[in-house]
Amino acid sequence: MTKKPWVKVRAHSFILRSMKKVLVTGGAGYIGSHTVIELLNHGYIPVIVDDFSNSDKRVLKGLEEILGFAPSLYRCDCTDKAVLKKVFEAEMPDAVIHFAAFKAVGESTEQPVRYYRNNIDSLLCVLELMQEFNVCELVFSSSCTVYGQPETLPVHEKCEQKPATSPYGYTKQVCERILTDATTANPTLRCALLRYFNPIGAHPSGLIGELPYGVPNNLVPYITQTAAGIREKLIIHGNDYATPDGTCIRDYIHVCDLANAHVKALEWLDTKVSACEAFNLGQGMGNSVKEVVDTFVRVNATPVKVEIGPRRAGDVEQVWADASKASSLLQWKTERSLAESLKDAWKWQKQLSIG
Ligand code: NAD
Ligand code: WQD
Repeated sequence: MTKKPWVKVRAHSFILRSMKKVLVTGGAGYIGSHTVIELLNHGYIPVIVDDFSNSDKRVLKGLEEILGFAPSLYRCDCTDKAVLKKVFEAEMPDAVIHFAAFKAVGESTEQPVRYYRNNIDSLLCVLELMQEFNVCELVFSSSCTVYGQPETLPVHEKCEQKPATSPYGYTKQVCERILTDATTANPTLRCALLRYFNPIGAHPSGLIGELPYGVPNNLVPYITQTAAGIREKLIIHGNDYATPDGTCIRDYIHVCDLANAHVKALEWLDTKVSACEAFNLGQGMGNSVKEVVDTFVRVNATPVKVEIGPRRAGDVEQVWADASKASSLLQWKTERSLAESLKDAWKWQKQLSIG
């Protein structure tokens, strides 16, 4: 059998943690699938729950190839409480990581009711069942979108939140509020609200990564698809912002670093008797759109045709994280650079184009 350098399942951690079982809703999605690997690497047993509304069977094939076995999986819509209850009954999880949600900002403005129904209902079903089955630890996927355009940078968790600019963003604010209220009413419930900045990249094996349906909205999948010849050119949405090169600035974080933060959050929750804390997850520095494109071209020695277009409605000019809280409380830090993220994103895209 060929050696797979990316498989790092640590036997001793299995013994130390006595095989804690974690329900991973949305575990067949982009961030969820990477987190499943990270959980196994740290001695947890992930159980995926996904309705495949935004995921693809190729992810499961990739996961199986990376792990050497197929992780447990239930095809289930988390808003269907009766079916989800059967999963709780069968698996009796120790904790939940709740990724399952719709995530396209633009689409959420066109289909707000669908977004509110899915993103809020799925959390409520999960919470009710956690209560019924006495599951006390929840890691929730939140987003830097809860901040809007912050007044000071880097943005800290205590920074005042602006009214959400999209139904998607509002679902994250509402879900955070629901969890805050639920933990206040029931202090045995412990929650980590993880505010992701801009997750990019893919597993270094190139076997799993982001699978956007249709034309991507996000920058990095658009770059990789342009480099692969699927898109004619990348339009940079505005170069007249008040930033050094005129293009918007974001905090891009490798998806494997992000996945690792979920394990750290579970470890941290284990040490608490009560908790509901928000954590920024980013590199703690910003890169402009132009820097991202230039870095992609340089590290992959692959050209990307670029054109400057008008600003995109609703874009914030610049935002990056103060991630010091995650660093001090979760003992977490990023390990992968922008260059590494863009190399891995390209490896994944090339593999997709072949497959
Ligand atoms: P994704 O779409 O790849 O993964 C979400 C998964 O959830 C998909 O596999 C989808 O099929 C599943 N799903 C959706 N609704 C479901 C339901 N009702 N029941 C069961 N499964 C359901 O998205 P992702 O990028 O992996 O994002 C995961 C989470 O992180 C989401 O909550 C998203 O809002 C949040 N987030 C993502 C980003 C980002 O840029 N990718 C940034 C901040 C926050
Ligand atoms: C990044 C930059 C674009 C595409 C979104 C969500 C946010 C969060 C993370 C979920 C911007 C520019 C993009 C293109 C471009 N997701 N761009 N040409 O907007 O920071 O955040 O993902 O919670 O809620 O809004 O990410 O990747 O779309 O854009 O110039 O073809 O790239 O204008 O400046 P964004 P993004």
